[in-house]
Amino acid sequence: MSNLAYDENQERGYEASDRDISALQAVRPIPRISIQAFCESEGVARPIERAAEDRRMARAHVKVTMGGVDAAVDFYQSAPTPNLIIVESRREPGEIMASLDGLAEVCDPSTKVVVIGHYNDVALYRDLIRSGISEYVVAPISLADIISIATSIFVNPEAEPLGKTIAFVGAKGGVGSSTIAHNVSWAMSTLFATEVVIADMDLPFGTANIDFDQDPPQGIAEAVFSPERIDEVYLDRLLSRCSEHLSMLAAPSTLDRVYDLQADAFQQIVDTVQRTAPLVVLDVPHLWNAWTRDTLIQADEIVITASPELANLRNTKNLVDTLKRTRPNDRPPRLILNQVGMPKRPEIDPLDFADPLGVSPIAVIPFDPHFFGSASNNGQMLGEMDSRHLISHKVNEIAHILTGRMEAKGRHSKGLSGIFSKLGRKKK
Ligand SMILES: Nc1ncnc2c1ncn2[C@@H]1O[C@H](COP(=O)(O)OP(=O)(O)OP(=O)(O)O)[C@@H](O)[C@H]1O
Ligand SMILES: [Mg+2]
Repeated sequence: MSNLAYDENQERGYEASDRDISALQAVRPIPRISIQAFCESEGVARPIERAAEDRRMARAHVKVTMGGVDAAVDFYQSAPTPNLIIVESRREPGEIMASLDGLAEVCDPSTKVVVIGHYNDVALYRDLIRSGISEYVVAPISLADIISIATSIFVNPEAEPLGKTIAFVGAKGGVGSSTIAHNVSWAMSTLFATEVVIADMDLPFGTANIDFDQDPPQGIAEAVFSPERIDEVYLDRLLSRCSEHLSMLAAPSTLDRVYDLQADAFQQIVDTVQRTAPLVVLDVPHLWNAWTRDTLIQADEIVITASPELANLRNTKNLVDTLKRTRPNDRPPRLILNQVGMPKRPEIDPLDFADPLGVSPIAVIPFDPHFFGSASNNGQMLGEMDSRHLISHKVNEIAHILTGRMEAKGRHSKGLSGIFSKLGRKKK
């Protein structure tokens, strides 16, 4: 290839320039985020597509579409917004702000927005950043620019921490904590098209492998027993994919060894997974020892699942009180009442159950052995079995509450500064 052809290819964004290569050398891999770009020109679309193929972006899901801001607004009327939206706009500086209003109306507050414009205008830049846009870049852009932007938003030390950890624990054995954790994980990953990782911490008896019909040769135990090897690349190899946006660290579920773990047994695994995925679900077994206690105390959210009877109430009360005391500056644990209405079982009324706890349940799920049993026999999630079933709706509601994500149809306009300003990006 002649030098001339090579230069042309670089200019069109087909090849990385030497500048790109050196700019990317120190860049850390981008986590499992979803990125959607709405471009107006090939010159911008192409480098984004090329960036998506870079090894540092291997974990991210990237989609590039044409149509600019208008296409984005149209699309997100009915679809969940990803972790990062990139919109190209050829509009003049005076028109760009107003054109983004429509996007603000449909954008979840957790979504970051980057604008690629064609005017180098400092006042516009300041206005956009002030209103919560994460970055304004002027075309032409290179693939290194795109990767650096994603890095500055999601990887840099001053970036908001990415992975929210949600720990699920049962107030008693067999109350359905794991089943709910798996179904809520699946719901979050499909409803919001966001990457979710489940860590099955019940090493001897975990059921995530059964529920997702997977039998991986390696999983979480490899990491627990070789903490010195844990990094993002090592954990990638231990993850098994359950569906498009859901993967898990499966438990071995075997008894050929015993699992007497130290208090910090999972700490590094959780820290590392947290850096690579927006949502991390911890399926904690019904045990009270040093590592379950520490795992619960460290989690961003705790969900206690209980059945409406006396021992469950006593245990839930103890869990709620202990966790409130050890986490005085956090929201109290969430409560899910499950298996409610089991025939012939004397039960405590949900209101009476919640009263002494000072925590009202975020969901009350009926006892329905047929629905749960059929899903389990088919190796399917409840929402896959019947997305219109009352219990599937309840699972979706839990997913919305735990993530703070709004339904696409339920979003209301707060204006550009209202919604985007919540994104709270630091100024340059
Ligand atoms: N609402 C419900 N109605 C009927 N069956 C249910 C319901 N919720 C869960 N189950 C069933 O109860 C059983 C126990 O569920 P699961 O293993 O999720 O409980 P767990 O709290 O994680 O138990 P463990 O203490 O073993 O970890 C499963 O067979 C599950 O399908
Ligand atoms: Mg369990």
